[in-house]
Amino acid sequence: MLKIEGLVLAVVDPDTGQETEILHGNSFSLAQGEALGLVGESGSGKSMTLRCVLGIEPAGARVEGSIELDGTELLASSGETLRRIRANDLALIAQNPHGALNPVLPVRRFLVEGMSDARSTGRAEAEARAADLLRQVGIADTERVLASYPHQLSGGMLQRVVIAGAISGEPKLLLADEPTTALDVTTQAEVVAILDEKRREHGLSMIFVTHDLDLAAAVCDRLAVMRDGEILEIGTPEEIRDHAKTEYTRKLMAARPLLYPAGHEQPPAAALTTEERRAES
Ligand SMILES: Nc1ncnc2c1ncn2[C@@H]1O[C@H](COP(=O)(O)OP(=O)(O)O)[C@@H](O)[C@H]1O
Ligand SMILES: [Mg+2]
Repeated sequence: MLKIEGLVLAVVDPDTGQETEILHGNSFSLAQGEALGLVGESGSGKSMTLRCVLGIEPAGARVEGSIELDGTELLASSGETLRRIRANDLALIAQNPHGALNPVLPVRRFLVEGMSDARSTGRAEAEARAADLLRQVGIADTERVLASYPHQLSGGMLQRVVIAGAISGEPKLLLADEPTTALDVTTQAEVVAILDEKRREHGLSMIFVTHDLDLAAAVCDRLAVMRDGEILEIGTPEEIRDHAKTEYTRKLMAARPLLYPAGHEQPPAAALTTEERRAES
């Protein structure tokens, strides 16, 4: 459903006019319902790749290559088409959930406005659906959360709200950019598990960006390893684990023990494979 070919991104320094190439001609594709992990250390170009898909690359940037979403070439689309695709087909779950919500409106408004048929839905029905969305992401006291302003909720709670909003719009493609990095470790595991479960329930495709190779392996069908704006290798988690082609990938894997909280010998639940999680519950 998504096919990226030879993606080049070059940004221009507004002061010097000097151009720097950030992405060097990357290609990958995503099947319907598939989750692809985009993994690499900080600065490797993961977020910039997502920004190119969203059409929100830095001002003045040069983008070349092809980004095709269900047959539509995004790089050749007009502003109007792109706006429509961004609103209907793509949903971004970013590192900081505060950015997704208007700080002066209660959560209720965020969820109701996100509903595609909000205008034809009665108020009571929209309320009930918003509450139902929250229950789906594991929030029990829906009344309190719906009435809360973003600053009154924890990051973990807010990220659940963002996931609920993303899922409710039934997008084609979820773009998750380090969606749990800003959360504490216990909450991280819960939020990743919820994201994973909801995505599968709704059969959505996802690009999951993270520096945590194990986490990506737990929730993705395939992994693309990035370094310095280049995709070094793409494979299933098993292929990457057992037959890593580069020293860089092996180093990312070796970083694993550092990723567990001190005192925890087990990986957090979200870092287990789906089968392991099932076996545990
Ligand atoms: N707004 C920007 N303008 C120009 N260059 C940027 C901007 N944001 C990030 N970069 C550069 O682009 C490269 C890739 O960054 P990014 O995609 O954010 O990395 P990652 O998400 O993998 O940590 C880095 O070298 C970074 O310095
Ligand atoms: Mg990033």
